[in-house]
Amino acid sequence: MAESRFALDDRLPADYLANALRSDALEGLSTAPRTLPPKWFYDKRGSDLFEQITMLPEYYPARAEQEILTRRASEIAGLTRATTLIELGSGSSRKTRLLLDALTAGGTLQRYAPLDVSSSTLREASEAICRDYPALSVTATVADFTTGLALPDHPGPRLLAFLGSTIGNFDADQRSAFYRALALTLSSDDVLLLGADLVKDPDALVRAYDDLSGVTAEFNKNVLHVLNRGLGSDFDPDAYDHVALWNADEERIEMRLRARTAQTVKIPELELSLDIAQGEDLRTELSCKFRRETLTQELREGGFTVRNWWTDTAGRFALLLAVPN
Ligand code: AVJ
Repeated sequence: MAESRFALDDRLPADYLANALRSDALEGLSTAPRTLPPKWFYDKRGSDLFEQITMLPEYYPARAEQEILTRRASEIAGLTRATTLIELGSGSSRKTRLLLDALTAGGTLQRYAPLDVSSSTLREASEAICRDYPALSVTATVADFTTGLALPDHPGPRLLAFLGSTIGNFDADQRSAFYRALALTLSSDDVLLLGADLVKDPDALVRAYDDLSGVTAEFNKNVLHVLNRGLGSDFDPDAYDHVALWNADEERIEMRLRARTAQTVKIPELELSLDIAQGEDLRTELSCKFRRETLTQELREGGFTVRNWWTDTAGRFALLLAVPN
């Protein structure tokens, strides 16, 4: 029976997301520069918009990573011989199927353990996988890996996949803390599979985050709808321009929402009133881009040795395997 192979463990207290949104908004919006963590993009509408982004002609990362996975999945299965595939920020789990297919064909895989902050997306995606892979146990965990790592404790070797260059949402300090926490949690026979978008021509990067059809602009503005719903605020999403800016010093794309006019925003839940100046930016996402040498170096400092490094034929995106030291 499918049910017996499926479990969903919700590790978030009932009021966790409401409280986290309040404290993130309070911390991020009351001081300059105003910022919001990107995890608030992903309500139902935001997750749908992100799915659309991955199909845009300008948004190459999804296709580039897919290309590498298609070509390398069986090699990854052979190298890792994983019994458990853990996936952080699994979302729709679409690319994951390439890994599941290869690991299943390799004969080692017994369990898929996706972890995501969005319980509805997680449930939908992992139930579909449970249906399509009758030999697998699926143990899904609702958790927020930006605030702590409590990985499901399954027999190894475990392959921990962190795909889509979600690592790029972290700044250097957050990445370093993340690698260290992960290295402590993993055993010596576990392996990290990391997807990372690479530094390239700034025009191509900006196009990927500022598409002609305006889907990314909608995705960006959606965070204001999430705030309005969660905090009773009165942000007018149409009063902001979507901005995707290449920060050449930090080698990252910064998504911002730029106020078209001076405006006052009330956030009743926080008893806060914000005076936002004309032209002021709310920074909604960092998307750091990587180079082989520096990424290898920061992983080493965080407790990992890179064993394999693959890119797509155009050299836009990298997939790497790393082991804890
Ligand atoms: C999901 C974090 C990988 O940074 O490219 C896509 C999100 N933002 N377009 C990225 C995103 C704007 C994406 N990640």
